[in-house]
Amino acid sequence: MDHFPSSDRYEKMTYNRCGRSGIKLPAISLGLWHNFGSVDIYDNSKAILFEAFDNGITHFDLANNYGPAPGSAEETFGKILHKHLANHRDELVISSKAGYYMWPGPYGEWGSKKSMMASLHQSLKRMKLDYVDIFYHHRPDPETPLEETMATLDLMVRQGKALYVGLSNYPADLTQRAESMLREMGTPCLIHQPRYNLFDRWAETNLLNVLDKRGIGCIAYSPLAQGLLSNKYITGIPEDSRMAKPHGFLQKKALTPKKHQAIVKLNNLAKSRNQTLAQMAIAWLLRDKRITSVLVGASSVKQLRDNLRALENPSFSMDELQRIDDIVGETNR
Ligand SMILES: NC(=O)c1ccc[n+]([C@@H]2O[C@H](COP(=O)([O-])OP(=O)(O)OC[C@H]3O[C@@H](n4cnc5c(N)ncnc54)[C@H](OP(=O)(O)O)[C@@H]3O)[C@@H](O)[C@H]2O)c1
Repeated sequence: MDHFPSSDRYEKMTYNRCGRSGIKLPAISLGLWHNFGSVDIYDNSKAILFEAFDNGITHFDLANNYGPAPGSAEETFGKILHKHLANHRDELVISSKAGYYMWPGPYGEWGSKKSMMASLHQSLKRMKLDYVDIFYHHRPDPETPLEETMATLDLMVRQGKALYVGLSNYPADLTQRAESMLREMGTPCLIHQPRYNLFDRWAETNLLNVLDKRGIGCIAYSPLAQGLLSNKYITGIPEDSRMAKPHGFLQKKALTPKKHQAIVKLNNLAKSRNQTLAQMAIAWLLRDKRITSVLVGASSVKQLRDNLRALENPSFSMDELQRIDDIVGETNR
């Protein structure tokens, strides 16, 4: 049955131009790393996707290995898209990636032409799509020549299997080299996807300036540090939280006493701004005009609604920004 999306969905969202390209992305995008796998409850995944689209989220981020089981998030997404949103394909920006381990043997990961083309073909099949809007190289490959990986991204675009290409987890210097190669081939690098949140500032050292200078958009992943930057871990570790799950992506040791103290202080600061901590963490990223979109995850419709309200209070005083830096700085001392 078709899903009939909210008719005012595009008035609810802000859209930012992605670098110096023609395409705009929603200020908040939805990632399907967790909560859309074959182990998850299908109806919950579906409800989160509908809620996102009803609120103007047009960009959905996937990768070959998202699940668990690896690949199953693409299958879930493809199923929901074709069953309920088939008429809206042209309103969506769908991304996938290759680079992390996906299948055994020498071609199941990294950045060779053999591996990346096979992975894209698999992703298209799982999602039942003719093309993805953005295809990323998921992480730098220390062994494959950068020329080969970038030529493969270029080939995907020439074959019409991807409209745009992006890089993820590439450091600043390698991003510059890769961008130059892509530009020379006539396939600009649309976007970079780094981990970036209040606690994890590596992108600020050099990457964000490189992206700005080169006209590359930036979509920040794990904006809530996988949920740490919310009020959920203040009084303990909830049973249904990512930290309590056995997969180990968010380990208990990440919640050090200093981090916990910072979370409590940040939560109080957020309250004084009439926001939840999750909303403040997202708004803090979006205040920087170099950030095109913030790529959130959500395990429930309620969380997604909470996160979307970040757009209601986007500005910070100098004093608030200083207090945030001071609180976060204490975790490193
Ligand atoms: N390129 C890469 O290498 C890479 C790596 C990682 C992620 N990503 C992308 O970035 C996306 C987002 O990453 P992420 O899932 O780590 O993002 P995140 O937004 O930092 O964390 C999402 C998790 O935080 C919790 N949460 C979300 N909103 C909440 C709220 N309002 N209140 C309380 N808890 C809340 C939920 O976990 P619970 O299960 O505990 O409820 C949710 O699954 C991924 O889906 C993926 O698309 C890319």
